[in-house]
Order: sequence, then structure tokens, then C-alpha cells
Amino acid sequence: MANIPLYEEVASRISTLVEEGTFRPGERVPSIRNLSRQMQVSINTVKEAYGFLEDRRILEARPQSGYYVCPRLPALPREPVVSEPMLQPAGVSVGELTQMIMRDILNPRLIQLGAAIPNPEHLPVTRLNRMLSIQARRFGVQSVSYAIPPGCERLRKEVARRMLGAGCALRPDDILTTTGCMEAVLLALKAVCKPGDTVAIETPAYYNFLQLIQELGLRALEIPASPSEGMSLEALGYALDHTPVHACVMISNFNNPLGSQMPDEKKKELVALLAHHEIPLIEDDIYGDLAFSDERPSVAKAYDRKGLVLLCSSFSKTLAPGYRVGWIAAGRYRAQVEKLKLVTNIASATPTQLAVAEFLANGGYDRHLRSIRRDYARKAALMGEAIGRFFPEGTRVSRPKGGFSLWVEMPEMVDSLELYGKAVKEGMTIAPGPIFSASGKYRNFVRLNAAFWSERVEGSIEVLGRLARELSSGNS
Ligand SMILES: Cc1ncc(COP(=O)(O)O)c(C=O)c1O
Repeated sequence: MANIPLYEEVASRISTLVEEGTFRPGERVPSIRNLSRQMQVSINTVKEAYGFLEDRRILEARPQSGYYVCPRLPALPREPVVSEPMLQPAGVSVGELTQMIMRDILNPRLIQLGAAIPNPEHLPVTRLNRMLSIQARRFGVQSVSYAIPPGCERLRKEVARRMLGAGCALRPDDILTTTGCMEAVLLALKAVCKPGDTVAIETPAYYNFLQLIQELGLRALEIPASPSEGMSLEALGYALDHTPVHACVMISNFNNPLGSQMPDEKKKELVALLAHHEIPLIEDDIYGDLAFSDERPSVAKAYDRKGLVLLCSSFSKTLAPGYRVGWIAAGRYRAQVEKLKLVTNIASATPTQLAVAEFLANGGYDRHLRSIRRDYARKAALMGEAIGRFFPEGTRVSRPKGGFSLWVEMPEMVDSLELYGKAVKEGMTIAPGPIFSASGKYRNFVRLNAAFWSERVEGSIEVLGRLARELSSGNS
């Protein structure tokens, strides 16, 4: 795993000095040249560090004058606390609500704060589509033929290469391509569970997983999680000792909706704990490439010695959700997953696999990621700050280190389903808390998507904050 880049170390030292009051709001910080001399690092490193702090609204550049501490430092609300445990497995029923929300997602007149979709402005649409047509010409008949499982070989090679950066030594043959990450998770659940089985899942949980669990006739056992470190291993250990569990589902990096990133040590511990009980782990790493820092976090799969981790991901958050290009490394369940894939839909679309493979090999994917990660970091910081400004007192908001989802806890009086109805009337969608729970929890929570941040969205957050304040004071 890479160490923290030098510029982040420099940025963190300056940010500590700001936090401790050595540099106060409005004051000038050392010039780039001076700091480079003082800290014995290159000019470019200091430039990058200052750029990093600018993105986080800690410093601002003033033309011809230098860098200053922002007059108004981001006053982020506190983070939500660890979620409530649920000790009994439960049937799930979040279907109607999520369908209503998906319908609203299709409404172009609404500002999409509710859906966890990437901002199309941050997708390489033109380049990718150009590659699609070039690859279709290049591969002729092959481009219109089935990419029979395990799927397009070039794509699997590129994915295997990239996953080395996440600490994971995979061979192309360990990987099967799928139609998005959702299909990967569906195949994984089908391979390891049978109807009536219990799946341990962090709470709050991505609502599509809850629906999938319901559709497959499984039961969800909700395990509490924190917005900083994800699933509680103490709670999971307790659950495993007291309830039969057949699989565990987890989003290890920049969780949807919590934003949590499980630390490496904890990932290792989780894999060992589940391995001890011989329980498969279905790991979703769809946001792993969207870390705000330059360090690509590891995946739990990196610590898998028994082949019990089924790692699922896709390029839906970074390149093209509509291309439906995903993959799974299913460990010891590989043959079973491959068979299921064949009987479900034979193969995934060939042309988009070819185009994504070409983008990974020659399209500057890393450059693209560097740019969008900075954008999302800035947008998440700005939205978090605006929520602090406009929402009722006592509101808490997560501080993700990647991705674009913010998890917001409002005062208890605020019913997010009521807020949802009012928000749609005001021209925006939000994702109300209860859709993230198998048992209707999180009534006073919402998930907001920071990817579309703009002045207009800031206006929407102001309106949403007003609506939430009205509900919290009983004045609606
Ligand atoms: C955690 C998580 N997994 C999977 C998906 C869906 O992925 P795909 O579109 O690749 O099927 C999403 C989309 O929101 C997600 O947030």
C-alpha cells in the first residue's frame, strides 16, 4: 500500500497549525518558496499541498499576494453517531419507497440530491464514446459476439492490474465481467445463500442491497456501523456467536450512504473473523477509486487467504453508469458464479467492455480519477458546510474521505419522508433515511448527493434547510 503522499503530509501540518490557531482566519501563511525552504520539500510539493487545502476551503489564494487562511473556516457539523444494532434477522420491505424515488430520479426537472449518481460533467463522455466506436470497428465480428464468461479478456487483465493498487493480487482468470456491480452482488448472493438464509449487513445499508435480499427470500441482520470506520466488528462478532449467519455484505470504502472507510487493520480483522466462522464476505468496492486523497485504499479481498471474499465492483461511478460494465472476483465460488452468470443472461454486452478496457489501457484513467477526486472532495466539503449553515441546530453530517454521499442526521422531530414530499414540491429529490434500513429506522436522516454541487444546488440546500427547520419546530 502506498504511504501518504508528501504533499498531504505538508498539507496536514499546515492544517494542524490552522486548527491550533498558529495561523488564524484571514492571516497569510508562508509563501510557497519559504515553506519549501523551511520544510525542505520541493516547490511543487508545497504548491500541491496548498492546492489541496484550497479544495478543502482551508486556504485561499489571493492574486499577487499569496495564500491566506480562509476568513470563514468550514464550520462542519458533527458526524452522526454509530447506528443502532438490530439483533434479530428481519424480512425486508423498502420496495415501494425506493420505486417512488427511482421514478423521481427520471424526472429531469428535479435537482437530484437523492440519487447516488455521478455528475455527467465528471464523466469522460466524448472520449469514451469515441473509444466505443473505434473498438467496435477494430474488433468487427467479435464486438457483436457474446463475450462468454468469464468475459472480455482484455478488460479482466486491466482490472487485475489495477487491483494491485488495492493490495490485491488477482489473475485475469479470477475475474468475471458482469452487467454492473449490482449483477455482481446478485450473483454473489445467489452463489452463497439459499432462501431463508440470513445475511449480515451494515446499517444503514444501500437500499438496493436490502431489496435484493428481500427478492431472494433472504433475511437481513443489521450490524451497526460508524460514519468513520464502517461496520462494528464487536457487534458482528457478537451476532456471529448468537445467530446463524450465511453471508456478510459490506461496502468497504466510501460507503453508500455512510461514507465510511474501513481502516486496513479492520478489514484484515473482519476477513479473519468471517474466515473463522467459514462465512463468505461479499465486498462492494464501487467507490474505491474515488478517494479524496491520492492513496487508493485497500480492499478486504487483499487479506483473503481462504477464497471466501467475493469482491464486486464496476465503472458506474467513475466512467459510465449506462455502459453497465462491472466485475466480480469470486474466490472459491468462481465456478458457481460463472455458471449462474451463464444461465442468467449468458454474457454482458461486448462493445462497452471493449471500450472500458481500452480506456483503462490507453485513456488516461488515472489522470481522469485525479481530476474528479479533487472535484468531489471540494463539492462534498462545500455541501457539508452549507448543511451546517442552513439546517436546524443539532444536525450532524458525515465527513467522507471519498465518494459523493453525505449522511445527514437531523433533529428527531424532522421526519425525512415528510421532508421528501416537501422537497419534491420545491424541485429536488432527497433520499430519506428509512429506505436504508430493513426495519424502517433513520426517520430523521437523509442521504444527499454532493456530486452536483453548484450555486443552484446551494440554493436548494438552503430551501431544504428551511423545510427541515420548519419540521423541527413543528411549524410546517
Ligand atoms: C454501493 C453501490 N453498489 C452498487 C451500485 C450499483 O452499481 P452498478 O450501476 O454498477 O450496478 C451502486 C449505485 O448507486 C452503489 O452505490
